[in-house]
Amino acid sequence: MAKRIGVLLSGRGSNFEALADSVAAGRIPGAEIAVVISNREGAPGIDKAKERKIAARVIPSKGLEREAYDRQVVAVLNEHKVDLVCLAGYMRLLSPFFVASFPNRILNIHPSLLPSFPGLESQRQALEYGVKFAGCTVHFVDENLDAGPIVLQATVPVRDDDTEESLSTRILAEEHRIYTEAVRIVLEGKYKIVGRQVIRTN
Ligand code: GRF
Repeated sequence: MAKRIGVLLSGRGSNFEALADSVAAGRIPGAEIAVVISNREGAPGIDKAKERKIAARVIPSKGLEREAYDRQVVAVLNEHKVDLVCLAGYMRLLSPFFVASFPNRILNIHPSLLPSFPGLESQRQALEYGVKFAGCTVHFVDENLDAGPIVLQATVPVRDDDTEESLSTRILAEEHRIYTEAVRIVLEGKYKIVGRQVIRTN
């Protein structure tokens, strides 16, 4: 049975596309993207899912209390028999209810070397801080913002003349690469979680 991925997004959807390309190319063996869900109407990622003939749903979050909203999302994920949830530019914190519904089965991609620069505009935070290396992180998701055990990270050098845009572009290429790799590792089950450490096995 194929492992079914559910993608949650709020915007552009380039990480979703990278995962979809990887699934199509066999880089994540035995996986399929079962559904893409957005909390925002008009998220470009939803149109991209439809173009690829992948089930796509908008579930507007506006005005709803966190858990009440998450119950709707979890119901749709269950309807599509999702095994692994991938957050890909999903601009919401998950409720304890959501996290408990998919224990160690939710991943997020973040454009910094966590625990540095969590939250919004991480690339700008990195530039303003003056770090020499930036990067991205794929981690398991808990109730806290950009926390949870780290599956993979990748670094990119920061150049003296970098702008937020040029740095973001360089990081994004690495995001697309390590998200695929992390999903493959997790779906193959070739890891164990010890404390905060994700340790690869064979
Ligand atoms: C990415 O930089 C991701 O790391 C962050 O939000 C951005 C989403 O980009 N969480 P996209 O929608 O995947 O293109």
